Amino acid sequence: MELHEYLRTADEIERDGAAALAAAADADALEAARIAFLGDRSGRIKALQESLKSIPKESKPAAGKRFNEARTRLEALLAERKSAVDRAAGAGAAEDLTLPARRQWEGAKHPVTLVIEEIEGIFRELGFTIAVGPEAETEWYNFGALNFPPNHPALDAHDTMYLEREGLLRTHTSPVQVRTLQRFAPPIRVLIPGKVYRRDPFDASHAPAFEQIEGLCVDEGISFVDLKATLNLFAKRFFGASRTRFRPSFFPFTEPSAEMDVQCGICGGAGCAACKGTGWIEILGSGMVHPSVLEAAGLDSERYTGWAFGMGPARIAISRYKIPDIRILYDSDARFLEQIAGAGHPGGAR
Ligand code: DAH
Repeated sequence: MELHEYLRTADEIERDGAAALAAAADADALEAARIAFLGDRSGRIKALQESLKSIPKESKPAAGKRFNEARTRLEALLAERKSAVDRAAGAGAAEDLTLPARRQWEGAKHPVTLVIEEIEGIFRELGFTIAVGPEAETEWYNFGALNFPPNHPALDAHDTMYLEREGLLRTHTSPVQVRTLQRFAPPIRVLIPGKVYRRDPFDASHAPAFEQIEGLCVDEGISFVDLKATLNLFAKRFFGASRTRFRPSFFPFTEPSAEMDVQCGICGGAGCAACKGTGWIEILGSGMVHPSVLEAAGLDSERYTGWAFGMGPARIAISRYKIPDIRILYDSDARFLEQIAGAGHPGGAR
């Protein structure tokens, strides 16, 4: 083959190849064009390479140079076109507007938080404000001011972690009663949520750290009637139309003291597993604030009287949501939390 003929053939192949590659609209068309021009067995570039053999020796360098140019150009065009076709395929999927949107997972409130917030809402409507106090507390606020005599058996239930320098992790929210009475003058109506600590085993019904909600009402002329009326109203609001009962009890910081039960909402009082066959669920401890607690806080106990209560929102959450083991509340398994909170599924559409 003469050189001029070879160069003309190379021009043709390059021009046809560039046109075929440019016209390929998808991956299949591009692959067909690649095979036709750059294919190893019968591609036209391969044929051009073969015909180099028939070029006279003195023309070989020029023909070879032209062959390399044509092949390099088509290979570059192929690579360029391939990435354009791939990008178009990907972009098409991302822009499929018919796909359902992926929903953002917003998380869910913890069941104990739900219970605390609902209780706070009820007491706020009754004119209570929210107060808080320190979790690291002194022995005096946790015990002394609350009328626990040293070595009294009531201390047994309140074994806790003592801090290295001084003080302890509070075993109940009751010390905040004293802190509130020291700081504000009656009339006082406060609700005190917070974490408390005890040297308790971590089992199906105990935890060494848990939430409590304390209530305190102090003014002139407050009586046990106020306690019963307020707590009955709370029970009606929180548990529905349940009946309640008060059982005599003992706390060093109240006199008289009473535990309040609500009728079991599951069996309606007939007795079932949830209420251990009694028909009643114990929800709180309460009583008239002991005069020595008022005096410890600097109030005249002849002038002022008050009532108080303390309850465990985890216990209430367990009976309300029928949770079989208190430890589930500490796992923070998002699937469990949102099942209780009634939220959607994490990750949205699947
Ligand atoms: N502080 C008590 C406890 O943790 C609960 C309690 C009972 C609080 C009676 C009160 C109350 O304010 O009046 O066991």
